[in-house]
Amino acid sequence: DKGSYRHYMLKEIYEQPRVLAETLEGRLSRDRVLPEVFGPDAGAVFDQVQRIQIVACGTSNHAGMIARYWFESLAGLPCDVEVASEYRYRPHVVSPGTLFVTISQSGETADSLAALREVKSQAKHLATLAICNVAESSLVRESDLVLMTRAGPEIGVASTKAFTTQLAALLLLVIALGRRHAMTADTEARLVEGLHALPALIDRVLQMDADIAKLSEAFADKHHSLFLGRGPLYPVAMEGALKLKEISYIHAEAYPAGELKHGPLALVDAEMPVVAVAPNDELMEKLKSNLQEVQARGGQLFVFADERTTFEDSPGLRLVSVPAVDDALAAVVYTVPLQLLAYHVALLKGTDVDKPRNLAKSVTVE
Ligand code: F6R
Repeated sequence: DKGSYRHYMLKEIYEQPRVLAETLEGRLSRDRVLPEVFGPDAGAVFDQVQRIQIVACGTSNHAGMIARYWFESLAGLPCDVEVASEYRYRPHVVSPGTLFVTISQSGETADSLAALREVKSQAKHLATLAICNVAESSLVRESDLVLMTRAGPEIGVASTKAFTTQLAALLLLVIALGRRHAMTADTEARLVEGLHALPALIDRVLQMDADIAKLSEAFADKHHSLFLGRGPLYPVAMEGALKLKEISYIHAEAYPAGELKHGPLALVDAEMPVVAVAPNDELMEKLKSNLQEVQARGGQLFVFADERTTFEDSPGLRLVSVPAVDDALAAVVYTVPLQLLAYHVALLKGTDVDKPRNLAKSVTVE
């Protein structure tokens, strides 16, 4: 039931504070991730983990790409991520102590399931772990360890709340493994504090809705767009681009901001809006110079930036302030305005938001 919302997608975007809180419920103390979160067998497995291999499709793969930054920067654990349709058909070298992690909303995605089955038949990985939203799914039944997201049923074909709850679940995993490696108790406490504050923070981000609706007018008559980010915000840019192309049918491509001058800058003109996600971290200054390159070519720039950041006022630049957030959680927070942007552009274009053409909610065939 959509309730008072015009589309399931919008309802699901607005459910994010609540389902994030539910996904964290009973899993955190004030400053720790509780040890029993991953089940009674997890501790013995986690003690042996030396590396992570994540496999997923689409939006779930973007969650994995963000988690890779977290595993390496916060936990000191090497992590690889690959889309399931590639991973399943490729011979691999599996290092000792590799935990195989699948991420899936439905738990029935054919390629993700096939990758899991392939890995199990080869028995080279330490164990398999699924992060999933459907308890009765094949992926959950067939994995050694499971962490459920509690997003509730997601009806809109374009994934929104499943993605942000996957990120919250992944951060729990990063912490549970990280404390066995490079993560200090202080870092864990800081992250857990951030997780506790996350639902309220997303509530504040949702208040950007009206401003983003206005911004969306600049996209409705465009055919192409570019999304830029750095670090964990690069996969966020990819996710923003995926949302826009799925439901508005506007071609959207994401690049790591540093790649701009290695090719895509050639495309930039007044007809090609460029969206950048720019939280206040060490990469901000570098991103600023990328942004100047776009402006110098007459490009229209839309920058989602930390409310504490200042940019010189200039034509062709629209700055959208995002509530201040700990670097580690920026990926979750900056996803939400991009979901809203895609939604409002699709509304203006009059597409079937909840059921975009050619797409199915769950891809159970190859
Ligand atoms: C995009 C989207 C898809 C899914 C992908 C994987 O909005 O929803 O890209 O993320 O088909 O689906 P799950 O997560 O069910 O394995």
